[in-house]
Amino acid sequence: MKNLIGVFDSGIGGLSIIEKLREILPHETFLYYADSTNCPYGNKTTEELLDITSKIVNYLRDEGCKLIVIACNTATTKCLKRLRELFPDIILVGVVPAIKVACDNNYQNTLVLATPATIESERTSELIKDYKRKNQNIYLAPCEGLAYAIEQGKAQDVNSILDTVFKDYQDKDIDCIVLGCTHYPFIKNEIAKRLPEATLIDGSLGVAKEVKRQLEIHNLINSSTAEGTVYMVNSKSLPKES
Ligand code: DGL
Repeated sequence: MKNLIGVFDSGIGGLSIIEKLREILPHETFLYYADSTNCPYGNKTTEELLDITSKIVNYLRDEGCKLIVIACNTATTKCLKRLRELFPDIILVGVVPAIKVACDNNYQNTLVLATPATIESERTSELIKDYKRKNQNIYLAPCEGLAYAIEQGKAQDVNSILDTVFKDYQDKDIDCIVLGCTHYPFIKNEIAKRLPEATLIDGSLGVAKEVKRQLEIHNLINSSTAEGTVYMVNSKSLPKES
């Protein structure tokens, strides 16, 4: 056991989660796995995602991770339940669109931005069923291609996707926008510009608190008082499987 926390996503998205994790757990050391080979996840089938994510969990476990964070809404909503069955010996924490936070804070009209896979997932429907009150509206907007455009740094594509998505919501009195993909915090200014009255929320604080809680329950908190670090690995730099 190397006392590491593994974190993965299809690319840079999960770094928005790492930021919060480091704030809440400054003495932990993280191994961040960016799966650029398979980016984007958002238009893959559940079977494809399960195949991809179980290989990553295996890799991170073999590297000595004591807990693994699925820093991706798509992989979490599509695969977390199944991954927990496949890997009962490792603690897995995922991230889901912050629908509960939006509902608990009494927002009336919430717009959820996420990948097509997250939007159509059963887990997203469950979250709405569990937390939405009668007087609240939740609008689901699949943002096809947005995570990939962010990953590639294509500002023009980002803007044209956002223009298309937001044109349907200008007259809906949206007061809350859920960033339901870990890539989206990197373009929060672009998003905020389109509906300046709305509050933007994401799931990073919830994930970081849950990771801390799990480490405490399992007595796995790093006792060192030194500042932790982040090691990075990219799937493109690893040897291909035969
Ligand atoms: N950042 C991921 C998410 O939270 C995945 C985006 C993608 O690869 O499509 O959903």
